[in-house]
Amino acid sequence: MKEYVHDSELNLELQLMTEVMKLKSLHYGYWDDPNQEDIDLEVVKDAQHQYTVRLHELIPEGVSSVLDVGCGIGDNARYLASKGLSVTALSPDDNHGKFFDPSIDNPHFIQSTIEALEIEGQTFDMVLMSESQNYFGIHDGLRQVKRYLKPGGYLFISGNFLQTNSTEVYDTIHKESDYIAAAKEYGLEVVNRVDITQNVLPTLNYTKGLLSGMLVPALTIITDYLAREMPKRTKLAKMFLGGQTKRVGKILDYYDQFLDEKNYTEHVNYVRLIFQMKK
Ligand SMILES: C[S@@+](CC[C@H](N)C(=O)[O-])C[C@H]1O[C@@H](n2cnc3c(N)ncnc32)[C@H](O)[C@@H]1O
Repeated sequence: MKEYVHDSELNLELQLMTEVMKLKSLHYGYWDDPNQEDIDLEVVKDAQHQYTVRLHELIPEGVSSVLDVGCGIGDNARYLASKGLSVTALSPDDNHGKFFDPSIDNPHFIQSTIEALEIEGQTFDMVLMSESQNYFGIHDGLRQVKRYLKPGGYLFISGNFLQTNSTEVYDTIHKESDYIAAAKEYGLEVVNRVDITQNVLPTLNYTKGLLSGMLVPALTIITDYLAREMPKRTKLAKMFLGGQTKRVGKILDYYDQFLDEKNYTEHVNYVRLIFQMKK
């Protein structure tokens, strides 16, 4: 499945979330009441904001500088900056850079992967990975965390962790026990763990509904229309369109399986894990 979740697909996801759905965040929402009914786009936006508020509440005392790894479109970074923290936000995607105002130095955006990050002489009180930890290897991330974290500093991860052995659908997610064991090798010990799976679940159900209720029918309409128009097109164009349609179909199918509540809760926990670097 990994092959379907690489960069170009993520841009598709970005466009869907920011341009179609007009969302201001790329992460899950947080529901104080996971049984809330009648969820619409506005409710999702509020829940995404609540995700950030709750994240901020868990930041250990004494933290004043943050490296936000895989910052997306920057809503967490901006919120933390508004609360007085000094934030350096990085993402490899230059589309994300457009969401940062270059005339403002907090948060400050750097276009880079965590693996390639080179900033001289700067260390941070906290490294944040909000739903980004699964985009790079465990050791690739931790090596850089060790390099950029002050002694006694924190690594705060908020996101999906696999609890069972890898399944095809969730093969892009790191196993929590592997992560914790690897972190120990870098001097990082868990000091807080909050399981918020139930609080984020409405995000999955809402997105799954959107996928099957809107995206798949829309795609079918577009494909049918283009197929009708095809007699006017070349054979090559038909082959290209057929290939692309199949690819998009596979991506949608992947997300449909990923977002299935029963499947997800059987294999995945959504966890806020805070590690502290030994002094
Ligand atoms: C699901 S988004 C999460 C965005 C944001 N942290 C949030 O909570 O909304 C994943 C982020 O990880 C970034 N990313 C992907 N590969 C990365 C890498 N190798 N190093 C750092 N960030 C990466 C993506 O560009 C994106 O910004």
